[in-house]
Amino acid sequence: KFEGLAKTPPLGWNSWNTFATDINEQLVKDIADKFVELGLKDAGYEYIVLDDGWMSKERDANGNLIADPIKFPSGMKALAEYIHSKGLKFGLYNCAGSKTCAGYPGSRGYEYQDARSYASWDVDYLKYDWCNTSKLNAEGAYMTMRDALKAANRPIVFSICEWGDNEPWKWAQDVGHLWRVSGDIINCWDCEVGHGSWSSWGVWKIINMRKDIRKVAGPGHWNDFDMMEVGNGMTDAEDRSHFAMWTMLASPLIMGNDLRTASKETIKTLSSKEVIAINQDKLGIQGFRFSNENDLEIWLKPLDNDAWAIVFINMKDTSTTINFDWKKHDIGDDINGKSLDLKNSVFRIRDLFNHKNLGNTKSNLKAEIGTHDVLMIKLEKE
Ligand code: GLA
Repeated sequence: KFEGLAKTPPLGWNSWNTFATDINEQLVKDIADKFVELGLKDAGYEYIVLDDGWMSKERDANGNLIADPIKFPSGMKALAEYIHSKGLKFGLYNCAGSKTCAGYPGSRGYEYQDARSYASWDVDYLKYDWCNTSKLNAEGAYMTMRDALKAANRPIVFSICEWGDNEPWKWAQDVGHLWRVSGDIINCWDCEVGHGSWSSWGVWKIINMRKDIRKVAGPGHWNDFDMMEVGNGMTDAEDRSHFAMWTMLASPLIMGNDLRTASKETIKTLSSKEVIAINQDKLGIQGFRFSNENDLEIWLKPLDNDAWAIVFINMKDTSTTINFDWKKHDIGDDINGKSLDLKNSVFRIRDLFNHKNLGNTKSNLKAEIGTHDVLMIKLEKE
């Protein structure tokens, strides 16, 4: 794969969660404009990714992929140019199988040709799905596309969209820059919709789906917890918690809502710079669950400079009061050999969503947290 890309988790937007295949040129341009207008570009969002449905149903006479001429009359190169003119980057979707999940031409047997098309259109990011693959070997199929992208000689972030059955976290570190860990996300707190392998999963279902995968995440290779559902129907509190968790998990932060109609509160959450900074910390360590007692989830993430991020999420249907005694807790990360030395050092506490200082770790941390809401803090040595 292209080295040097996605040194921190990619930040962007993808069309699927809100629009499915109902996408078009004007929509994408509007989204690019909104990145700038709403301060999202300034907050670090960069990639605009078109998911399934951008192609014609058939390849052309030479076997080339073509953009749907009705949805994208100016073609992909012109769209890439528009996005680049805003200082942003452009992504497309395809699939390792014979057809994409929505039935458009897949890349199987056309990998090198398709990679050359993407390079010729100045594409910067490829999401590569796993439908209609029959007996294909996943690792091999993704390696083929990786090699094809490399041969096309354009730095393209390679996003592996296999849903976990083939455990990409075990083999994808040198193949892609990110890989999905689950089936598709859906806009609910902790539900499962559908059944078995065709289910869609709520936020906490995805968070709890995999064990022991955090050690494989790091600069250039990330566990992808799927595109976000912030702004797609959960409460503002749930959206904040969802966003906080994706940042703690060092997941790519790919927005999946309609930025043209997003509420102020949604944009405030998505563009929380101090929260995004936790996701973008240069060590790239995926956070972990410290405890979940009495319906309170506590997660930790070691950061550069011996700092730590901590989230407290209230899982109850009522608000809750926390009174956290720092001295009573021994906090460490076995995998990365980091410990939070609360006995010998004092840490300043910063409330990241509310941009407020909350004193230091000499005294208990006291706070009221609403239902399904989060307190997200950063600890820095005094
Ligand atoms: C799969 C993927 C989704 C989306 C759709 C498109 O379900 O997991 O993220 O790309 O295909 O058809």
